[in-house]
Amino acid sequence: MERLRGKTLLVGLTGGIAAYKAAELVRLLTKSGAGVQVVMTRAAQQFITPLTLQALSGRPVLTDLFDLGLESEIGHIQAARSADAVIVAPATANVLAKMAAGIADDYLTTVLLATEAPVIVCPAMNAKMYAHAATQDNLSVLRRRGVMVVEPEAGSLACGEEGPGRLADLSLIVEAACRALTPQTLSGARIVVSAGPTWEPFDPVRFITNPSSGKMGFALALEASRRGAHVDLVTGPTALAHPPFVATHRVTTARDMEQAVKALARDAQAVIMAAAVSDYRPEDTAPQKIKKSDDDLVIRLVRNPDILAGLGADKQPGQILVGFAAETEQLLENATEKLRKKNLDLIVANDLTQPGAGFRCDTNVVKILDRSGGVEALPCLSKEETARRILDRIEALMRITKPGSDSR
Ligand code: CTP
Repeated sequence: MERLRGKTLLVGLTGGIAAYKAAELVRLLTKSGAGVQVVMTRAAQQFITPLTLQALSGRPVLTDLFDLGLESEIGHIQAARSADAVIVAPATANVLAKMAAGIADDYLTTVLLATEAPVIVCPAMNAKMYAHAATQDNLSVLRRRGVMVVEPEAGSLACGEEGPGRLADLSLIVEAACRALTPQTLSGARIVVSAGPTWEPFDPVRFITNPSSGKMGFALALEASRRGAHVDLVTGPTALAHPPFVATHRVTTARDMEQAVKALARDAQAVIMAAAVSDYRPEDTAPQKIKKSDDDLVIRLVRNPDILAGLGADKQPGQILVGFAAETEQLLENATEKLRKKNLDLIVANDLTQPGAGFRCDTNVVKILDRSGGVEALPCLSKEETARRILDRIEALMRITKPGSDSR
């Protein structure tokens, strides 16, 4: 979570049984390099001690508005001002009601009223309390004011009931914090990203594929979504979990991928093909597992459609098309040729022979080529950072091709 490094997050705990999970949240946020200032209501302290949160955050926990010692060390207004984002987890029905009404009767609610930072609330409570019209109305009011709500999960609750009310998965809360700290430069845009390998079967249990992990495409999808875009991720088989807040479509073969990408690309302002699509597929797929014999086995391969070339041939006005070129020789020549042939706006070229580049690793070393012959050589970066740099370039192109702009 590079996005959180060096940021100050104020985490407010209120009095629900999920308060114990907030301890782990604080640990995750501190581990991502954020400075975490914990504020606890009186009720929260019935569930977990300030000492635990102090040990995990490395800072004194703010609890009492009228504690002269704490107030002289860090005043509540200063706490409100210094926060880059405020996370209330767990948020009880009571604190949501106070926030909606603008009540400030303790440290946390005072800070919430005084802060100008983005606020994230993570409700956790009994399912009936959550479903109650009062709570739902309060959440609507808060959403209207720009508060980000990380919805609770459904499941068995500590009170013995079933239903929505369980604190959201902590990875979702951390992701919400990343979003809150990301300028919404792609808000309103629709972006399609493809990722991973394809599987081309020749019998029910065997297939032709390549070692793509999907990490680069997933990183691009997540970053575009953090910037506010509606992202459709079309992915071949990978071991990666769905990126939060991204519409993920899982496919198997190149032909499945073509169908999904083509349909979604119609309404997209940008399409990024990071998938390692198999260029060939077995001509026939045996209905049953092929049994071995003493003879050699010959599998005839036929061409798969080139998805990106198809999109380039039928390009929508103003749409940005981005391809990848994974090469083992003549990187720039081959990538330039692909950019031209497939009618792309950008191509991201990586030399698979370089250490830290390409399939499976968490880093990449790429060069970004554009239509005018420009080459931006990026150093070895995490795939997260590489995704950011690629999206910066796409955003710049989107600004130029925006309807109404006469630059192109
Ligand atoms: N691509 C595609 N459909 C294919 C093959 C590739 O859409 N059937 C896309 C990839 O997602 C990538 C770009 O085209 O964005 C280039 O893919 P790459 O495999 O590097 O090149 P190919 O065009 O397949 O050429 P070659 O394999 O000969 O290098």
